[in-house]
Amino acid sequence: LASVDLDLSAVQEGQAIKASWRGKPIFARHLTAAEIADAKKVDVATLRDPQKLEDRTKPGSEQWLITLGVCTHLGCVPLGAAEGESRGDFGGYFCPCHGSHYDTAARIRKGPAPKNLEVPPYTFKSPTSVTIG
Ligand code: FES
Repeated sequence: LASVDLDLSAVQEGQAIKASWRGKPIFARHLTAAEIADAKKVDVATLRDPQKLEDRTKPGSEQWLITLGVCTHLGCVPLGAAEGESRGDFGGYFCPCHGSHYDTAARIRKGPAPKNLEVPPYTFKSPTSVTIG
């Protein structure tokens, strides 16, 4: 499918859902206030792939972090989108293939991955409904 609709209405703060778009996994996470604060307090100049949370979310919807679920090292699917999975040392996602740790904005913080998890093109149709692609 060229585009995919996601219903976020049942995703509670702190939870994520997985979907698929153009054959790739998509993660959509409902960030908690603490996770947003964690992401914002980082000095982006210290990051390997410097981006603010605001660069990776939509204005007014920064609690929704929507990324590809594809590690930027060699393409494994990171853990952390499902209940009980490791989120790594920085509270976001963890790629067990070679140990890449992503933070609550899905930015690479530790391990071999060169880039943050990619943010796909998407638009909100309503506050809890989004079209990817
Ligand atoms: Fe994720 Fe290597 S593929 S760390």
